[in-house]
Amino acid sequence: MCGIVGIVGKENATDILVQGLEKLEYRGYDSAGIFVTGTDKKDYLVKSLGRIADLQAQLSPEVQGTVGIGHTRWATHGKPSERNAHPHTSGNDQFILVHNGVIENFEEIKQDFLRGEQLTGETDTEIAVHLIAYFSKETANTKEAFKKALSVIKGSYAFALIDKNEPETIYVAKNKSPLLIGLGEDFNVICSDAMAMLTQTNHFVEINDGEMVTVKADKIDIEDEKGNVVYRESYEAQLDLSDIEKGTYPYYMLKEIDDQPTVMRRIIQEYTNQTGETMIDPNVIKEITASDRIYIVACGTSYNAGWIGKTMIESLAGIPVEVHLSSEFGYNMPLLSEKPFFIFLSQSGETADSRQVLVQINELGLPSLTLTNVPGSTLSREAKYTLLLHAGPEIAVASTKAYTAQIAVLAVLAKAIGDKKNRSASLAFDIAHELSVIASVMETIIDEKMEISQLVEEYLAVTRNAFYIGRGVDYYVSMEASLKLKEISYIQAEGFAAGELKHGTIALIEEGTPVFGVITDKKTAAHTRGNLKEVESRGAHNFVISIAALSKETDQIILPDVHPLLTALVSIVPTQLIAYFATLQRGYDVDKPRNLAKSVTVE
Ligand code: G6P
Repeated sequence: MCGIVGIVGKENATDILVQGLEKLEYRGYDSAGIFVTGTDKKDYLVKSLGRIADLQAQLSPEVQGTVGIGHTRWATHGKPSERNAHPHTSGNDQFILVHNGVIENFEEIKQDFLRGEQLTGETDTEIAVHLIAYFSKETANTKEAFKKALSVIKGSYAFALIDKNEPETIYVAKNKSPLLIGLGEDFNVICSDAMAMLTQTNHFVEINDGEMVTVKADKIDIEDEKGNVVYRESYEAQLDLSDIEKGTYPYYMLKEIDDQPTVMRRIIQEYTNQTGETMIDPNVIKEITASDRIYIVACGTSYNAGWIGKTMIESLAGIPVEVHLSSEFGYNMPLLSEKPFFIFLSQSGETADSRQVLVQINELGLPSLTLTNVPGSTLSREAKYTLLLHAGPEIAVASTKAYTAQIAVLAVLAKAIGDKKNRSASLAFDIAHELSVIASVMETIIDEKMEISQLVEEYLAVTRNAFYIGRGVDYYVSMEASLKLKEISYIQAEGFAAGELKHGTIALIEEGTPVFGVITDKKTAAHTRGNLKEVESRGAHNFVISIAALSKETDQIILPDVHPLLTALVSIVPTQLIAYFATLQRGYDVDKPRNLAKSVTVE
């Protein structure tokens, strides 16, 4: 949510900033801006409403420099506009600031320090840059003024600051929001995500909350909160440029849907051995096995994956599992069991809602595991254990391969716990084999995408709303399928427990309302079919996705049979394609839906 880039010490700073921002567009894309300067002290501030391409269109050839910062915004305070776009400038025009996060006490700061100050926009960031200028009247030292401002500011932030009087330096500080330093030869960069600067370097240094970093072309200086010098080793990003390119695909989402069989095979490789036994850190398994209840905490698509995780862990490992929304759990924590274990699901590993729960869990001294796609992410660093998803970078805002990777890793985890507990039900199958069957079935479904596209045209080209229904695991898949559909195609879609429809929501069924039934569970199949009949009698246009063993000839999509505990991994794939094609057909941007961002680093 909001992306930051910066560079010190390279001739073509403007191009590098713009290319970096393009890679960060998944973090927000309602407006963008850059500031560039150099030792000749000429400087340029260019901002634009809309995408990075809109910003680029406004950049004239003279916008050049060797130092600069850039920002792509997901609005929190103040609507998307050029005025509210970052970078923001202090009243005396000396300081330039970009920010990712939310300053919670910006109203108080305005009252206490900035009365009478001319503010041009509505953002909290503008308050911060004015506050730095305010403190610079007390001390001529920019770093000290910045530190004083930080001592007043409450909230989450990643800040990058340039003082026009020192155009060879970027000052950087963070609290709760991500920011990295990238190391180059005779230049250095900053970025919210290593992906943004991979063309320049693959050596990065992490910054911890509370630290102040001075970035120059030939060195970086890190200071802790008390002003002590910090030495930190760099690490090599395990990312390849080809991982983050679309290649010949029209959209990242389609590439990521297609990636799923490969991801399944990678998970088999990472988490099982040649004989199909699970390979997961024995300390994690031991600690989970000793717990009396597992709490899965997550948001969005990850939350939906959590429900599938619950069914697998309870069946295979025999430990009760609760699934909670992070934004609710943190402030309304249920009574915990005596020996709880926490699993955080987060593709990005940066979601602020989930992190605030983890902070509390750590304060309580309770054990936790993060399942994330991003090594070194905040939730990974702060949880006791981490399991990586190995899905490769997911760039489309709508999550697809991270969802199936979460389910597959949870399946291996559930199997490993079951094996450790010697539960006969879990010993009876080979998870590596079953996941390889899943990979092949995914390929079969993906190969038939054009047929799905045609069906979508018939069902979703003009509708205002749609329903996904199912029971048990099929209901949990329906939750994710409807989220996918609504977030990118803007069709009002609801995932519903099939049996509950008749208790109220059936009132919304009209002539032609598309209702998608998901049927993969033997014990509930007949009942879901009954519920489909009920809506059909009221005019619904039914579309059935079923597993071969439970299918009827008239079903629209029949999936090959897979292990009964893993059906979600295949039934979700057609629904991802349905959302993709509905969005294309309705003329919207598949990868960058309105109002959303992929990594949400504010609560
Ligand atoms: C955002 C994204 C969703 C994602 C959710 C949780 O809202 O738009 O696609 O599921 O965050 O993200 P996480 O990185 O924690 O899985």
